[in-house]
Amino acid sequence: MRVLVLGGDGFCGWATSLYLSAKGHDVVILDNLSRRKIDAELATESLTPIRPTPVRLQAWKDVSGRTIQFHNLDVAQDYADLLAMLNRYSPDAVIHFAEQRAAPYSMRTFATRRYTVENNITATHNLLCAIVESGRDIHVVHLGTMGVYGYGTTGDVPVPEGYLKIRITQPNGPDIEREIMHPADPGSVYHMTKTLDALLFYFYNKNDNLRITDLHQGIVWGTRTQETEQDERLINRFDYDGEYGTVLNRFLAQAAIDHPLTVHGVGGQKRAFIHLRDSVRCIELALLHPPKGKQRVQIFNQMTETHRLIDLAHKVSALTGAKIQHVENPRAEEPTNELIVQNDGFLKIGMAPIALDDGLMLEVINVARKYRDRIDPTKIPATSRWRR
Ligand SMILES: NC(=O)c1ccc[n+]([C@@H]2O[C@H](COP(=O)([O-])OP(=O)(O)OC[C@H]3O[C@@H](n4cnc5c(N)ncnc54)[C@H](O)[C@@H]3O)[C@@H](O)[C@H]2O)c1
Repeated sequence: MRVLVLGGDGFCGWATSLYLSAKGHDVVILDNLSRRKIDAELATESLTPIRPTPVRLQAWKDVSGRTIQFHNLDVAQDYADLLAMLNRYSPDAVIHFAEQRAAPYSMRTFATRRYTVENNITATHNLLCAIVESGRDIHVVHLGTMGVYGYGTTGDVPVPEGYLKIRITQPNGPDIEREIMHPADPGSVYHMTKTLDALLFYFYNKNDNLRITDLHQGIVWGTRTQETEQDERLINRFDYDGEYGTVLNRFLAQAAIDHPLTVHGVGGQKRAFIHLRDSVRCIELALLHPPKGKQRVQIFNQMTETHRLIDLAHKVSALTGAKIQHVENPRAEEPTNELIVQNDGFLKIGMAPIALDDGLMLEVINVARKYRDRIDPTKIPATSRWRR
């Protein structure tokens, strides 16, 4: 397949681009490198020394003999260029990672709230609009989040894959059965943009018959894939800071430098997780199983397991001897929730989940230990507050 990867210089996008290229797909990356610029703005950087994009791409050519094209393009600003790229490459699919993806960063200031909405919503809308304007039949694979469902406890009812069966009682007549989009319950401005994306998908699918797969992804952990390991210049980014670091990778990085594991509140929050290697495989599965014809937006819960944060902290502590430190939770969220998730969609089409295990956690810790001198401990606390 020919695939455009929007946001292909980022954490998930880079690993996915290499994986797809290794599998024989033709990959073109469009990225405005905004994530690298935000590192500079926050005076932090990836724990791993990621190389400039041209160096990465040359390294991939050296080890694989394969070329990945790259264009520095802002999907939210450069509509005409985006349309020109669709016409030039005529891709079978576009994978859309190109959004501001940190909940804490989205809540940091009023400027970052506005940036997150303007960037994410306009990027998604530009893509959909450009596909319609191009007149091409291009499958959109979008990276959404499990956070769109919210974390309100619903007893032992699993979170379905995007759609909820409901029964409406009529005053004078039989009950009506419907399947509707699962109610959105965003917990940050970032999550809100993903729920708004879902409405854009709904409309463009209904009105213009666009074929769209929305992947409601869990928190990605791990940092290496078979491809990124092949050359030091291919190394993937690893965020450990309070804005962009995600919980399990943060615990593992903290353990690597003997920093206490920072648990927000009591740590009763239960969240969904997926290893990076599973994430890239799921994305290829989604490419190979596009919705057909006028099928509604296809939604998969792209996750493999759920864990309570305090349990994860205990696991990492047992493995490394790290201390656990309960800190004030900067987020506005329930201190404790239950979470059961349905993920049959990917299981049916071939996902073979990688389970959280000590070996894989040690792999991440060893990466963090190797580059421990690059960790700035002052960047570890999560400082963005949800409420003033
Ligand atoms: N990392 C996770 O744990 C996780 C979990 C669930 C969902 N996701 C989703 O997966 C996607 C990728 O996440 P990630 O962790 O790789 O994030 P990332 O920030 O590392 O990568 C995003 C990439 O998109 C680029 N980008 C942003 N706005 C752009 C624009 N307007 N034009 C062009 N490029 C732009 C950035 O420069 C960056 O390279 C995001 O949409 C995110 O919401 C990630």
